[in-house]
Amino acid sequence: MSADTPAPLWRRDFPYQAAAEEEVTRREFTRYLVLGAGAMAAGNVGLAAWTQLRSINTGEPRPIVALADVVVGETYLFRYPADDDPAVLLRVDERAVVAFSQKCTHLGCVVYFETEANRWHCPCHEGNFEATTGEVISGPPTRPLGRIDVEVRDDGQVWALGAEP
Ligand code: FES
Repeated sequence: MSADTPAPLWRRDFPYQAAAEEEVTRREFTRYLVLGAGAMAAGNVGLAAWTQLRSINTGEPRPIVALADVVVGETYLFRYPADDDPAVLLRVDERAVVAFSQKCTHLGCVVYFETEANRWHCPCHEGNFEATTGEVISGPPTRPLGRIDVEVRDDGQVWALGAEP
């Protein structure tokens, strides 16, 4: 406020002056508020886009393990499609293997294979999935386990070909 501008009426009744009173006007405060809200909205949009892009990363074909290194009926843990995506392979018989994301489709706990029951089990809420298809057998999950396409090549290597989103 300049020296030749008369003081507003409220100043007579309320004559206190804070040290930094003149530094932020209502208009500036509103501007900060709008900019802050805009920045938060942009951050949310960016986060949503990143999550979406990450979820459609279906992976590049790559070798996982030699078939001979996995006993029939046993599992092999690996990471796919990204290094922070836990996955698990099950050797079904002499030539057949299946692989799934290890994240339960209910709330994301890690599933493991129960040999005696021949099924994938999630200990968090007792979710169960069929061994070779990943379909829900029981429990709260409503979607099957995320399947990873795998094949055994002529050299005996098991390859992951891609993850189903
Ligand atoms: S997280 Fe697996 S059943 Fe709930």
